[in-house]
Amino acid sequence: MTATLFDGIGLLYTGDPEREEITDAALLAEDGVVVWLGPAAEAPGGAEERVDVAGRAVIPGFVDSHAHLIFAGDRTAEFQARMSGEPYTGGGIRTTVAATRRAGDAELATHALALVREMARQGTTTVEIKSGYGLTVEDERRSLELATALTDETTFLGAHVVPEGVDADDYVRLVAGEMLTACAPFARWVDVFCERGAFDGDQTREILTAGQRAGLGVRVHANQLGEGPGVRIACELGAASADHCTHLTAADVDALAGSGTVATLLPGAEFSTRSPYPDARRLLDAGVTVALATDCNPGSSYTSSMAFCVALAVREMRMTPLEAIRAATYGGARALRRADVGWLRPGARADLVVLDAPSYVHLAYRPGVPLVHQVFQGGLLLQEDIQNPPSVVVL
Ligand code: NIG
Ligand code: FE
Repeated sequence: MTATLFDGIGLLYTGDPEREEITDAALLAEDGVVVWLGPAAEAPGGAEERVDVAGRAVIPGFVDSHAHLIFAGDRTAEFQARMSGEPYTGGGIRTTVAATRRAGDAELATHALALVREMARQGTTTVEIKSGYGLTVEDERRSLELATALTDETTFLGAHVVPEGVDADDYVRLVAGEMLTACAPFARWVDVFCERGAFDGDQTREILTAGQRAGLGVRVHANQLGEGPGVRIACELGAASADHCTHLTAADVDALAGSGTVATLLPGAEFSTRSPYPDARRLLDAGVTVALATDCNPGSSYTSSMAFCVALAVREMRMTPLEAIRAATYGGARALRRADVGWLRPGARADLVVLDAPSYVHLAYRPGVPLVHQVFQGGLLLQEDIQNPPSVVVL
């Protein structure tokens, strides 16, 4: 058994609603699990190792509950066109599908691993990874199998768009049938892009309920580009999360408030598509649990930085710094229905981010500044191989 005392913590943001902030704190981890935290003056003795963070702030590792990391190619030209006034429609998804289908397993795995490491360097210790750029039975299956090497939080998103040249009804039957059967062993969640131009309410319901019958939990890409039935379906089916939530009616907000479904906001997407941000205040004021995530993907949000999303949430979505850090840690864990991450309290995994700052507020106050000093995952320091990922890794 290895016991490590993290000491000299100027401000500990715990993510635990019962005791969110502790000043002049210490935390004891044993075998990768938090066993005690509190005022440093009361710290128990007996630890074999001591990490003195010299007055810095400590937060739980970020929980990025929405990312699309299994893909090939990039969409720089599409981004440039948008920054010259073109709207985002989701049509570019097919460009990435073509590149992903052409790529070999090793290329997809290496690229996804590099993104996971890029995230880890920036303090993300839990990440969800979706399929959705394969859109054939085999390409979706292999996307998810590759994702399982990187995270436990894998999501089957065969219903991302209807692939070119395929009839929509045939495709929905395929996704809810043969594709789901092939993918379910590698997935924890099922997701549908419920949007005009992607899948309508009936198609969404059919695919999600088939996923539930196969034992998967539900999450939904909902109300990103316009109002629609996505959020209400998510709440009806008891989804863990409705993601995007950019265009909401009063009925959508009420449905979220009266459900156990988290609203996951993805401000990187609004930033990168130059779209209006979701109204986080309206959701928070209605008592909805809010998560923040990157939506990391080559089309609508090619950022891996949770700190950037926190800064956007504070500046552009009128969340307070406390609400934003809570959404990026505790909120993300609720969106994945995880009790072992997203907060620091006895029994939780010792995922700690030491900030080169006196407070988590600096994540928004000093936007764009690399404030992550050290990252501990399960009590272990992420080291050089994470800081400098090799260019070729064969999994
Ligand atoms: O969450 N909205 C659907 N899916 C992604 C974007 C995918 C893409 O443009 O490649 C999203 O924003
Ligand atoms: Fe997404």
